[in-house]
Amino acid sequence: MSRTDLIQRLAQRQSERARNGLLRRLRTVEAIDSTTIILAGQRLCSFASNDYLGLAAHPDLRQALIEAARDWGVGATAAHLLGGHRAVHAELEEELADWTGRERALLFSTGFMANLGVTDALLKYGESCVQDRLNHASLLDGARLSGAHLKRYPHLDMDGAARQLARSTATPTLLASDAVFSMDGDIAPLSQLADLGARYQATLLIDDAHGLGVLGEQGAGSLIAAGLPATQVPILMATLGKALGVCGAFVAGSAELIEGLGQFSRPYIYTTAMPPALAAASLAAVRLARGADERRENLQRRITQFRHGAQQLGLALLDSSTPIQPLWVGEAATALAWSQALEKAGFYVPAIRPPTVAVGQARLRVALSAQHDYTEVEQLLDALADLARSTAPLTGEN
Ligand SMILES: Cc1ncc(COP(=O)(O)O)c(C=O)c1O
Repeated sequence: MSRTDLIQRLAQRQSERARNGLLRRLRTVEAIDSTTIILAGQRLCSFASNDYLGLAAHPDLRQALIEAARDWGVGATAAHLLGGHRAVHAELEEELADWTGRERALLFSTGFMANLGVTDALLKYGESCVQDRLNHASLLDGARLSGAHLKRYPHLDMDGAARQLARSTATPTLLASDAVFSMDGDIAPLSQLADLGARYQATLLIDDAHGLGVLGEQGAGSLIAAGLPATQVPILMATLGKALGVCGAFVAGSAELIEGLGQFSRPYIYTTAMPPALAAASLAAVRLARGADERRENLQRRITQFRHGAQQLGLALLDSSTPIQPLWVGEAATALAWSQALEKAGFYVPAIRPPTVAVGQARLRVALSAQHDYTEVEQLLDALADLARSTAPLTGEN
């Protein structure tokens, strides 16, 4: 019997992906200045960044990072529980808890790990995890890692969610949803999810990776914007790598939740703590974000401008009020062709294709930032208008 060579099999899968025109390509950004990037020697205006408030290069963050590196060194040198937890981590956790209106918060090195860490710690083999079909990969994978039954409902379909919850009453159940969906930009019906959680006694986890910093008073996130207190949504997860412009993530909730995660969340326990300098930069970012109403207003103006312009052009916008403004294309090859044509015209707007989205649902993911100015958005709209004129129209009828 000859065994399958696993590396060869991986190469075959890659060849198949290439044949289907779905290969992902790693691009190296050679330089960046605000919304301008240099890619393959070409200056492009980027509409691809999750730095929604434009904090990633802010002088306060740079300064905090440099000073903390001077004080603490670069690496945390150990896991949180084994001497890697520094005063600056503790301070950041307190600030995040205060901002999001929770008793405590716990830092994770990435959002992917936070979602794996919270689902795996909460659920046991054979229990139930009910999730929106379009949740982030890390939430879906976290349920799989725990060995729970993953029960997905159609995107935003609260009747579907209720049906799955009704079928799960025999076991402890986690109900989990993104607040803002990363490839669609739309917002989950958070109040209805909270009601369903209460009605079916399912514990609710909300991933606010794309809402924190952007939505709600002081940018405190989607749950604050929806008027939902911690009592109605006991588990909040959010990242530090999007609107906060750094990297890492946290889970926030009751002291009981955080103590429990500290004991049982393997992606928290068995990994090196985030570098203290990044915690210091994140702390500076949170303080800025809380007072960044002007940036949020500017971002909102760009969102309104882009949506208005795209509607005038008859482009197929998705139903999103957030900085994530995807343009529906459908076929993967067309999305790629549009992305390449935009690049020739001086804009970086990545094509999102299967398997990130379902077959036939490829799109251009336009991400707006408070740093974009009026002219940049107008120029993107002009380039889209030229493309719509010269190729098959990217309109709602597609
Ligand atoms: C909704 C959502 N959750 C979790 C993550 C993972 O966060 P991170 O990039 O910090 O791993 C992302 C982003 O990649 C996301 O969009």
